[in-house]
Amino acid sequence: MTVSLSLSGITAHYGTTKVLEDLDLHVGEGELVSLLGSSGCGKTTTLRLVAGFLEPTTGSIKLGDRDLTRLPAHARNIGLVFQTYALFPHLTVRDNVAFGLKQRGIGGAERRKRADTMIDRVGLGDFADRYPANLSGGQRQRVALARALVIEPPLLMFDEPLSNLDAKLRVDMRVEIRRLQQANGTTAVYVTHDQEEAFSISDRVAIMNAGRIMQLDTPEVLYSRPANAFVADFVGFENMIPLRAVAEAGDAVRAEMPGGGVLTLPKEHFTVPSKEFILATRPEGLLVAPAGDGIPTTLGLRTYLGRAYQYQCDTPGGEIKANGPLAQPFESGTNAVLIPQPEQCCLLPA
Ligand SMILES: Nc1ncnc2c1ncn2[C@@H]1O[C@H](COP(=O)(O)OP(=O)(O)OP(=O)(O)O)[C@@H](O)[C@H]1O
Ligand SMILES: [Mg+2]
Repeated sequence: MTVSLSLSGITAHYGTTKVLEDLDLHVGEGELVSLLGSSGCGKTTTLRLVAGFLEPTTGSIKLGDRDLTRLPAHARNIGLVFQTYALFPHLTVRDNVAFGLKQRGIGGAERRKRADTMIDRVGLGDFADRYPANLSGGQRQRVALARALVIEPPLLMFDEPLSNLDAKLRVDMRVEIRRLQQANGTTAVYVTHDQEEAFSISDRVAIMNAGRIMQLDTPEVLYSRPANAFVADFVGFENMIPLRAVAEAGDAVRAEMPGGGVLTLPKEHFTVPSKEFILATRPEGLLVAPAGDGIPTTLGLRTYLGRAYQYQCDTPGGEIKANGPLAQPFESGTNAVLIPQPEQCCLLPA
């Protein structure tokens, strides 16, 4: 059974403190959506609401056409995988995995068959009779995963499931989680504060800040087309240049920097969102050139990056970073211009 998850207009409080504000989130059938954001932004709280450990102040939660909002946690049938594996130490791997089936009244032979199939699928076929204490961290995490998957829940939720593992294992396990989620067609919500982890395994990612979703999109769109300054900063647009549109010049808009310097932005490539706006780029989005229509600068320190040179650039809008071609190195102190490369720049409302 494949279902979608919908949170609509969710506000949540702990006591009198508001931690989620008018949150909407739709996860499509078989889709994996990650919640990504810094500590305290409300990721775990969102999962707790869906799991039924916390009631929203306003709003509703639906799984398929079932309204979960006031349903007790045990009636929601959701698979949970948390940072701490919470395996039963006195039960073998097989019995840990079979536990949820037993709770659901599934008989001994059937239970064992389904548990063993899932244990095989997470690559622990040789470990079914071991106790958790005799497994590595990664193996324990796979038991936790098998235990969540075996009940074939319509929805799986993960809360930082890999943060206790070493770097190599984290990468292997996230691929495994993605593979199993896709193989089972399970709808999933995945919480992490690791951008690479979220981007690598998700269909879409919700970037959260202070109890709100700032942007929900595919990793590709988030990486190249952030919708606001918060997300741009989050995905590494190191340069945020404040500009003010001052005039239309035929098929271009002329914009000026606070400290002086005028930039011409062809309308063919740039859509200015408001009078005051921000030009956001990574260093490779600004090309260092000897002359032309660009941001006037005096080049500072040059560093070699392998594929390009990078310059610290002194501009009327402050210090920014830009890349220049290997074929044409500039000396420190040279006057140059920085030409925005349209595909690699975003104009954002200030
Ligand atoms: N039981 C609680 N009582 C009161 N406040 C809480 C409680 N749990 C969390 N909070 C507060 O709610 C806010 C959101 O917490 P939440 O656990 O959802 O954050 P998170 O995004 O999961 O962070 P982390 O990445 O650190 O796990 C935080 O400001 C936190 O201090
Ligand atoms: Mg958390």
